[in-house]
This record gives sequence, structure tokens and C-alpha cells, in this order.
Amino acid sequence: MERFLNRVASAVEQGSLVKMTLSKPADKHDELRNIYIKPVLIKEKRLFAFTYHYERRDEVKNYDAEQMLDTLKELIPNRFMNAVLFTVSEDVTLLVSSKGKATVQTKKVQECRVQNLEHDKQKNRLINPANPWWYQLGLTTREGKITADMQHKFKQIYKYAEIVESLVKPMKFDGTVHIADMGAGKGYLTFALHELLTQRMNLDVDIKGVEIRPDLVLKINEIIKTSGLKGLEFVESSIEAYHPEKLDVLIALHACNTATDDAIASGIRAGAELIVCAPCCHKQIRQEMERSGMTDAITRYGIFMERQAVMITDTIRALMMEYYGYKTQVMEFIEMEHTPKNVLLVGQKTDKEPNRLIISKTISDLKRRYGIQNHYLETIL
Ligand SMILES: C[S@@+](CC[C@H](N)C(=O)[O-])C[C@H]1O[C@@H](n2cnc3c(N)ncnc32)[C@H](O)[C@@H]1O
Repeated sequence: MERFLNRVASAVEQGSLVKMTLSKPADKHDELRNIYIKPVLIKEKRLFAFTYHYERRDEVKNYDAEQMLDTLKELIPNRFMNAVLFTVSEDVTLLVSSKGKATVQTKKVQECRVQNLEHDKQKNRLINPANPWWYQLGLTTREGKITADMQHKFKQIYKYAEIVESLVKPMKFDGTVHIADMGAGKGYLTFALHELLTQRMNLDVDIKGVEIRPDLVLKINEIIKTSGLKGLEFVESSIEAYHPEKLDVLIALHACNTATDDAIASGIRAGAELIVCAPCCHKQIRQEMERSGMTDAITRYGIFMERQAVMITDTIRALMMEYYGYKTQVMEFIEMEHTPKNVLLVGQKTDKEPNRLIISKTISDLKRRYGIQNHYLETIL
């Protein structure tokens, strides 16, 4: 009995509980025939709705996690002899015999289930903070409320989801969409991408989060497993060494310095239809500019030199994408108050033949003007 209740408690804790049923009343004349339990989202709080099925009526009561576990302890086995816990990855059945002997059976489910928080009035929202992975990733409380210090991060996640949705919506995919998120870090934006594409856009995806830090990869893969998510996996690799066979969408958000270039190059080589990156630090071009000793009216000021280096780095990245047949856009990721790294560089593959001569000349002119010998992306491509 204790083992079963512990299993329920850990499913509640992990946010992996899909539903529960209590049946077989201890007193066969009991008017209460069974109870159906499911997680619900009410006013941004994750609660558990108990539907009490009486012989002639139903009654619904909502409990928080603690009340839910206390109520279960009162009901099993005093009122009900059978209970089944359905989680995203397994079914756990408790059977109590008339002599009071309890048996627990566990069955792994083949197809991972996804929770349905029916009460959510904002079902159409892009990202639902009540999904269990947000709690496990440390962005929300167990009840699905975004914690105070993660409000900014969540705004960024939401804005990102809005932009990606607008970019992916017009695209046509033939079967599974192959995506690499390079330099995926703690996975916030990778999980957002997965949630957006699978739950809102109903796409079949194969998303790889490429990350060089083994500790993060291990931790995130564990969260993916306990959340029962399909089509999402973190891979321990450097961006440079990761060469996907099939790639429809390349994402690289805040990958340090030239790691962004390695990611863009990888996307171009694999023929990705869409490339989305938010460049991070821009050391390589700044160092080239400083080494040349060339300054103009703008770059003689340190801060402007820094900003100019950022703009030149990303302009050449955009031009390089155009050279390889992409239509490019530079857009604001999120307001400066949330992150200073707020530029999103987007490349959408087109059938139009680029004018390579003009693009090459534009890049050369820019480099000459600022004394740049090499732009890393140009060199590796
Ligand atoms: C600033 S974090 C960004 C995380 C996430 N993309 C985001 O925007 O929230 C950059 C991540 O990229 C990883 N990274 C940096 N260089 C890398 C490389 N060459 N190969 C793979 N991962 C790299 C770092 O370990 C770090 O976790």
C-alpha cells in the first residue's frame, strides 16, 4: 500500500500523473461507486479534480497536491479496494484482497501519453507552464506557476515560440521534421520548441539538442524520460563535430562566439530549410578589427567599436546565408531589458538563384573598410 502511495506521490512530484481511478468499494452497498482523478489547471495552479461517481449523481472536488495525497490515504483501502495510477510512462495497479492483502502491478506503456489539463481556459496558448517539464527544468512551482526569478526567462521563451510559430507555419514538411538545436544549454528553448511543434502544431518531430556539457545532457535526458516526451533527445557533442544526416531546421541560440558560425555552416551544408540563430559574443571580428588598427569616426569609441563589431559579424553572416540561397531577416528577439543578446538572424531557403558576385563584393568591401582579414563563417564555408 505504502509502495503504491509513494508511487503516486512521486508521479505528482514529477508532474507525470495522467489520471487515476479508484474502484471496487470496500462496502458493496456504498452509494459512492468510484472516483476518477485527473490533473487540471485552474487560475494557473495545478490541482487534482476528483470526480466522485455516486449511484445517482456526480460530484467534483479540486485538491492541491498535499490534500490529494491525504484524501487518497483516507480512501484506500477504507473506501476502495482497487486503484490504478496512469502516468506518462506506466500503469500502476493496486489490488487489495478481502483479507486486506495488497498487491501492486506495474506495466510500462508502449506509447508515451501526454497530459491533458482540461480546465486550462487558455488551451490555445503557445506554451503551457503547467506542463511537467517546466517544473522539472526549474521554471515553475509544482503547481505550474512560473517562479518570480524565472518570469523574464519565460517571457523570452514565449517570444521565441511566437517567432518560431510564424516561421514554421508556412513551411511544408514531408513526414518527420528534423531539427537540431545547437548549444542547447539547459534546454528551456529546446523544450519550448518541442512543446510548440508537437502540442500546438501537431507535427511529428525529431529534435536533437546538441550540447557539449555532459552533465547537462545527462540531466536533460532524464527529464525527457520522466516527462514521457517523444522525438526529443540531447546529444553530447561539440557543434563542430555534429553532422546531422537530415536537417530541416537549424536552431542556435546564444551559442558562444564562432560556435554560431559552426552551427550556421552545419545548417547550410545539411540543406536546412530554416536557420534561426541568436548570436552571442562576437569576439572574432572585434579582435580582427582591433588588430588592424583601423578606426573611423564611429569605431574610435570603444562602445561603438563593440557594437559595430556585432553588426559587421552578423551582417556578414546574413550575407553568407544569402550567398547560399537563403532569404535573410534580422529581427529583435526580445526587448533589451530581458537580455542584451536580442537579435535573431533568420535564413529561409529559397529557389531563387543568388547573385553571388554582388554578395561576394559586398562582403569584401565591408571587410576592407574595417580591416578584417577573415570572417570565420566565410573561412569554414
Ligand atoms: C549561453 S548557452 C545558451 C543555451 C540556450 N541555447 C539558450 O539560448 O538558452 C550556450 C550553450 O552552448 C554550449 N556550447 C558552447 N559552445 C559549444 C560548442 N562549440 N559545441 C556545443 N555546445 C556548445 C554551452 O555549453 C552552453 O550550454
